[in-house]
Amino acid sequence: MKIPNHIAIILDGNGRWAKSKGRPRSYGHVVGCDNLEKMCNVICDMGVKYLTVYAFSTENWKRSAEEVGVLMNLFRRYLKRCERNAKKRQMRVKIIGDPTGMAPDIQDMIAELEGMSAGYDHMFFQIALNYGSRDEMRRAAAKMTADARDGKLRPEDMSEEVFASYLDTAGIPDPDLLIRTSGEQRLSNFLLWQLAYTEFYFTETPWPAFDEKELMKAIEAYNNRDRRFGDAKS
Ligand code: IPE
Ligand code: IPE
Ligand code: MG
Repeated sequence: MKIPNHIAIILDGNGRWAKSKGRPRSYGHVVGCDNLEKMCNVICDMGVKYLTVYAFSTENWKRSAEEVGVLMNLFRRYLKRCERNAKKRQMRVKIIGDPTGMAPDIQDMIAELEGMSAGYDHMFFQIALNYGSRDEMRRAAAKMTADARDGKLRPEDMSEEVFASYLDTAGIPDPDLLIRTSGEQRLSNFLLWQLAYTEFYFTETPWPAFDEKELMKAIEAYNNRDRRFGDAKS
């Protein structure tokens, strides 16, 4: 079986999973967070080189202050624990999204985690926090216009590669497989540029219940796809 080089996951359904168990949404986030740690290890051990997960969108600030608070505290705990894991698995961690929208102590934790793992290259783990694809492109456009103004970028040099180098995912190959859990079949503003030729896999299973068996089902489905990139045959 062919293992995808880059898997992207929209971690969805924590709230519905908790509700189905008669528990508050926050319980779903706690279990979802633990599952991320577990599945990141499973995916790493499988030999996947790149993993990118959508953990908090630019639109998720619209949730109740209470739920946002719970999520932020979970990120604090997760980022701290992630350091140990990064070291153990020689994993480079990068946060994509706009960190300036996060609390100052979380920004410090992000800088520390990225700094301590910068030299590792066994696996590349991207966590999308305060991420929105439109916001990423807006920020990229602002940087490009500033560089053009400063004479560092000429319109005639603007290739797709140059454009991509201004995105948060610069240097990271596009995902081969996108998984969205919990039944929704939309992108919700995730990696609009990068997913141009990615295979999509949707499952009804909510994120807290998404385990190794579910992952294998997704990879099997990926193996049965006839991948094309605009050419006539795969
Ligand atoms: C995913 O689960 C976690 C985040 C978006 C932060 P949800 O919180 O979206 O759970 P549902 O979709 O409401 O069940
Ligand atoms: C997308 O999930 C964002 C994350 C998983 C972080 P949402 O649950 O926020 O998306 P919508 O609102 O259902 O589109
Ligand atoms: Mg959701």
